[in-house]
Amino acid sequence: MAKLTTCVAFSALFFFFLHRRPLRANGAKYDVVALGAVGDGKTGSSEAFLRSWKSACESKGPSIIYVPSGKFLLEKSIEFVGPYEGGPIGIRIDGSPVAPSDYKVIGSAYSWLPFHNVDGVYLSGGTLDGRHRVGEMQGFFRYKTFHIVINRCENVMVHGVKVFTNGDTPNTDGIHIQYSFDVTILNLRIATGDDCVSITQGTSNAWGEDILCGPGHGISVSSLGKTIEEEGLENVTIMSVTLSRTTNGLRIKTWGRPSSAFARNFRFQHVVMSDVQNPIIIDQNYCPHNENCPGQDSGVQVSNITYEDIRGTSATRVVLKFDCSTETPCTGIQMKDVNLTYKDQPAAALCVNANGAAEGQIQPSNCLAASDCDAL
Ligand SMILES: *[C@@H]1O[C@H](CO)[C@@H](O)[C@H](O)[C@H]1NC(C)=O
Ligand SMILES: *[C@@H]1O[C@H](CO)[C@@H](O)[C@H](O)[C@H]1NC(C)=O
Ligand SMILES: *[C@@H]1O[C@H](CO)[C@@H](O)[C@H](O)[C@H]1NC(C)=O
Repeated sequence: MAKLTTCVAFSALFFFFLHRRPLRANGAKYDVVALGAVGDGKTGSSEAFLRSWKSACESKGPSIIYVPSGKFLLEKSIEFVGPYEGGPIGIRIDGSPVAPSDYKVIGSAYSWLPFHNVDGVYLSGGTLDGRHRVGEMQGFFRYKTFHIVINRCENVMVHGVKVFTNGDTPNTDGIHIQYSFDVTILNLRIATGDDCVSITQGTSNAWGEDILCGPGHGISVSSLGKTIEEEGLENVTIMSVTLSRTTNGLRIKTWGRPSSAFARNFRFQHVVMSDVQNPIIIDQNYCPHNENCPGQDSGVQVSNITYEDIRGTSATRVVLKFDCSTETPCTGIQMKDVNLTYKDQPAAALCVNANGAAEGQIQPSNCLAASDCDAL
């Protein structure tokens, strides 16, 4: 179930199943089929969906848009735009909205199913099929990008969602969160070609729990500090995560450039990794193609980051890497009960400009520098 308040975009979906939960059946009900949608997988039903949305927006009290079983071709991007007068709008899907087979139709729009300026929308059930098919994109090198984007939203809950796409499709983040406040994501299964969850600037109070990730690039806080004036990111808890064969586990990545951004008050807890390439990583030297940043230091202050009960196996020898900025070293990194192993060989930890403390069992050994600057 997704509760959407200001603006969520279902952009570029490949496969994506929403958790079924009955919505309260009171209020007006608008069946998309009664309004002209055809569940044959071929007839364009975008206009009928828009009519349903319009009717729901005009209804006085709570309302439900109902999508019965069947495949509904939504042949173009549909903008669900508010504000509206009445009560909450529920969208209950039993069937499967499907994207046009020509990916360029959505590729040239901002997203497939964006919600803008809405307050109190609930979406549940069904499968949203973005119709990425293996081989379909060959020769284009343009992928459908993020699955679910939470951008400039407040008070959003995403619960029981499964996202599936191929592990080799670039830029297909599962859930991307930016400039948002109070976002909870729970009980997710994500298989994708990029970050399972990516959280970036301007976000505070984000909570992620019960997340299964793989294939994919793991849980990523990235890529902060591209510009000088940038909003920070704070108060993020990620817990009970299983990562399987992902390229990263828990990653914080910032540009190697001056910036006023910050990343602070994070807690990563109860994480199990299996064959992950970079299990724990803070990389403050991101400078793709060595353009506009070589030799510069990241201005992003990374502080108060806790890793607790993190265990499992790494696919590479360096299982933990804190590569922080010279100008603004990481402070207040806390590690408690971390056990990451690399095959039967010794694993390594690397710290550069990283201050903090460790307690409990730490494997590999703790490389954090104790610092007076750590008032935490
Ligand atoms: C983040 O958490 C800190 C410490 O709990 C709190 O003081 C601060 O107000 C929070 N930030 C936001 C934006 O809620
Ligand atoms: C450090 O972060 C945690 C959340 O991860 C928060 O509860 C705590 O208040 C923060 N400490 C300070 C000093 O802000
Ligand atoms: C760390 O995990 C390995 C297996 O992955 C286990 O054999 C070892 O006992 C654990 N070490 C600690 C200190 O728990």
